[in-house]
Amino acid sequence: MKELSILLATVFFFGVSFPLETRGAIPLDKINISTKGDQLAFDTTKLSAKINQPVQLTFKNTASKSSGLQHNWVLVKPGTADAVSTASLSVGADKGWLAESPNVIAHTKLLNSGESETVHFKSPSVAGEYPYFCSFPGHAQTMKGVLTVN
Ligand code: CU
Repeated sequence: MKELSILLATVFFFGVSFPLETRGAIPLDKINISTKGDQLAFDTTKLSAKINQPVQLTFKNTASKSSGLQHNWVLVKPGTADAVSTASLSVGADKGWLAESPNVIAHTKLLNSGESETVHFKSPSVAGEYPYFCSFPGHAQTMKGVLTVN
């Protein structure tokens, strides 16, 4: 009985406090990004977001079905793009070709051509230039861009 009341209190607390908290929050930064068709490139190489903001990012893999190209979108801490993309080379397809790393701030899963995914994350609390890239082996050299946070 005691456990039940604690459970109910917890459900009540989260159910009520979350909407209240998000209601006061600042508007979402909405970002749309896709591949440049069948090229190993994003259609946008420069993105921007405000510090500490909820961000909603939608990434679409617009490559043709026949290309068979798989892509993801990975945002990392400044100066760590090479390390994360290199570490991802040996990760394998079952882990989406993305190495687990504390330097990864946000990412989509590996998407097949025609697929898209929306991810939500909080933008960094420190202003700077945050690199993003596709971690599929061989793509990061050209499939990359910079998110400016200010
Ligand atoms: Cu890619």
